[in-house]
Amino acid sequence: MFSAVDEFVAATLLDEDEALTAAVESAEAAGLPSIQVSPPQGKLLQLFVRLVGAKRILEFGTLGGYSAILMARALPADGRLITLEAKQEYAEVARQSIERAGVGDRVEVRVGPALEALPILEEEGAGPFDLVFIDADKVNTPNYFGWALDRTRAGGLIIADNVVRGGTLGDAADPDEATKAQRRLHEELCGDPRVSATTIQTVGVKGYDGFLIALVEGA
Ligand code: SAH
Ligand code: DHB
Ligand code: MG
Repeated sequence: MFSAVDEFVAATLLDEDEALTAAVESAEAAGLPSIQVSPPQGKLLQLFVRLVGAKRILEFGTLGGYSAILMARALPADGRLITLEAKQEYAEVARQSIERAGVGDRVEVRVGPALEALPILEEEGAGPFDLVFIDADKVNTPNYFGWALDRTRAGGLIIADNVVRGGTLGDAADPDEATKAQRRLHEELCGDPRVSATTIQTVGVKGYDGFLIALVEGA
């Protein structure tokens, strides 16, 4: 039922072209896991990019480039997206798909563990960012969030995928480290005046999960 609804939404409201389909297919053909955001979620990311008028985007977790392509397409011509991917072979697949989708000039894929990429970004003076999408190794989501929060402009958004984790977010006794990390992130944000945030549970072709969406407040 969830899949049928996603398919209906895709058929009516979304505009997936050949390059996007090809991005998913070539990721699959190369043996990458099929864990990209769903098409309706990808459209939501595009709407966020446009709503904040983003020009600088940072993504944690490229996979085959699906979400990066969508967000990059919502950028203006002078917008830039940096996306961090631990695996060289995934990054290669992503680069090809990004090129084929016509956004190669706006997107840079960096290979290596994101935590190692951050000091380099810092040194280069990358940012401030308008939008950060956190979708890599889930145990590090709070670390990525903390780094991003100091480098996202007021009025910018930080979005973290996979925080609900089949509903385990609501279970204080859940032993999974990834779930504990999402609970810790929520607890850290509790009462933090620098952000105003919410978490929205989602169902769809990718099962039951959810996004944390945080607006960075002014100084
Ligand atoms: N954002 C993508 C999906 C990302 S899936 C989309 O929606 O299209 C999560 C990705 O994070 C995987 O490709 C995985 O290899 C990558 N990843 C895992 N650990 C990482 C790390 N420490 N640093 C950077 N990327 C990592
Ligand atoms: C996984 C990662 C994701 O980003 C996602 O949306 C779903 C699953 C995973 O690592 O299993
Ligand atoms: Mg995800």
